[in-house]
Amino acid sequence: MADTDTQKRNAAFAAADLVPNGATVGLGTGSTFRFVLERLAERMRDGLQVRGVPTSRDTAARAAAAGIPLLELDEVDRLDLAIDGADEVDPQKNLIKGGGGAHVRERAVAAAARELVVVVDEKKLVPVLGRAFLLPVEVLPFGWKHAERRIAATGCKPALRQQGGQPFVTDNGNYVLDCKFDGIDDPAWLDEHLNALVGVVDHGLFVGMTGRVVVGQADGKVRVIP
Ligand code: A5P
Repeated sequence: MADTDTQKRNAAFAAADLVPNGATVGLGTGSTFRFVLERLAERMRDGLQVRGVPTSRDTAARAAAAGIPLLELDEVDRLDLAIDGADEVDPQKNLIKGGGGAHVRERAVAAAARELVVVVDEKKLVPVLGRAFLLPVEVLPFGWKHAERRIAATGCKPALRQQGGQPFVTDNGNYVLDCKFDGIDDPAWLDEHLNALVGVVDHGLFVGMTGRVVVGQADGKVRVIP
């Protein structure tokens, strides 16, 4: 039986092996994605040439240390692919992301990519999003309590994310409300509705954005959902 870290690593290595030579790649964020960086660095030592657009300061630092040349998102028109982790994946390949608070840049990078390849261990596959995991919604600090009330009216209980006794601040200088739903029955409706609310910057619900999902399984194998 493969433990969770091994499942993540197996999926991440398989996804990194999908990257063609010369590609411009969106670099995700999180513990699973770190294994993608490890494998890309290995392949670069064997001659692979890639350039990366990072989705967070954390990933930018790690990718630079791994020797991956970095670009800003606005320096490229289109990315060949983006690779990223997820917190939950439903049967339609809709996602909850943002456990690490990088979901706004992750969405921007994924939206600019020809394909978003998602890497997960198998326990992230769920029948319905939002039953177990909280949906992160990034809000402007200015008037965030008003945004919180608007978000709560969509049918959830929001809570301000904290770090060290202070509000958690994203790379974009904003706050995050982690929202408890009793399952998200209509992700497409919620996606549109949340982004229409005043004070909301963006959220961690990815609807219709995912290409292949690379799953590391407990049996040690890797499954690719096309
Ligand atoms: C970062 O904000 C997130 O979207 C991550 O990609 C997601 O939370 C998956 O993280 P892990 O790979 O650490 O579980």
